[in-house]
Formats: sequence, C-alpha cells, structure tokens
Amino acid sequence: MELSDVQADLTETLLTEDQIHEKIAELARRIEADYAGERPLLVAVLKGAVMVMADVARELRMHVDIDFMAVSSYGAGTESSGVVRILKDLDADLIGRHVIIVEDIIDSGLTLAWLRANLESRGPASLEILALLRKPEAAKVEVDVKYVGFDIPNAFVVGYGLDYAESYRNLRGVAVLAPHVYS
Ligand code: IMP
Repeated sequence: MELSDVQADLTETLLTEDQIHEKIAELARRIEADYAGERPLLVAVLKGAVMVMADVARELRMHVDIDFMAVSSYGAGTESSGVVRILKDLDADLIGRHVIIVEDIIDSGLTLAWLRANLESRGPASLEILALLRKPEAAKVEVDVKYVGFDIPNAFVVGYGLDYAESYRNLRGVAVLAPHVYS
C-alpha cells in the first residue's frame, strides 16, 4: 500500500498532531493540580486509547502508574451494546487508588458506563474519566467525564489510536474517514 492510499481514504483532518498535544498538555496541567500529592493510576482500554495514554502519561510531571485492560463487546454490528467481556484484566489492585480512566472517544457511552461501574466496584478512593474525543450522542448518557479534550461532530473518525477494521490507528492526527471506504 502506498502512503497516498491512506490519504485518499480521508476527507478532512479534524485535529492535527499539534492541536492534540496542546490539548493534552492542558488536561495534564489540570490533572497535576487536581491530584497534587497523589499518585494516580491511569487505566486505558486497548487498543484505541494507547496513543492518548502514551501522551497523557508523558505529559504529566508527577508519579503515575499505568495499566491496561482489553475488553470485547458482545453482539454483532457496529453499534455498541454496552455488554462487555473482559479479555485481559488490570494488573493493579484498585483498592484505595485514585483511578483515571483514559479513553479515546465516547460515542454512545455504553462501554464507558459499564467500565466505570466495573472499576467502581473494586474499591478505588476516586474514579474519574478522561476522554480525548466526545461525540454528540455522549451527551445523552449519564457518564460524568471530568476531562474532555474535544467535542466533535457525529462523523466516523480515525487516527491517533482510532481504527476502521484495524487500519488508520497509526495516523498522527484525527481525520474523517471517507464514505467510499465503508460503503
Ligand atoms: P460507545 O460505547 O458507543 O461509547 O463506544 C465507544 C467505542 O466505539 C470507542 O472506544 C471506539 O472504539 C468506538 N468508536 C466510536 N466512535 C468511533 C469513531 O468515530 N471511530 C472509531 N471508533 C469509534
């Protein structure tokens, strides 16, 4: 595959690498202030949140722990069902920890609602959510997201960890996927 083949699959760049990094720096300054004197545990769900996790963790000028989970949604189709199975659990014990879930994107919010309830049941001292991107649908569900990067339109986006059929995760920015790719 030629490099240009990837570009031809994208209609517009929604966020550049610089815009993302600037926003992550802003969020990191808030986290440093909110967790002063603590050692938060950053938790990300594989694979989409890997880039956000890597950049948030490196931007923080404080001690943190990082940990990962892998989950799979039950059911077919592209719609999130909110019913989730754990494929790889966290290594860390959450009891008494200040946990921050690091997410790439919230669409329906169903996955996140499940994750929040699951981690909450493990006895953390606190539990907050950081999401780089939030789609309009997310406003309809009762998931309290403390740190939001960008509110984006209801388009299918790829890059910076986000995929379509496992492609495009390695783009540096976030772009809208051209309809001809999935139609
Ligand atoms: P939710 O349960 O509907 O909030 O699903 C969120 C998950 O769906 C994210 O973690 C992504 O894996 C995926 N997702 C939602 N919207 C997009 C998109 O525009 N591009 C790529 N993946 C998406």
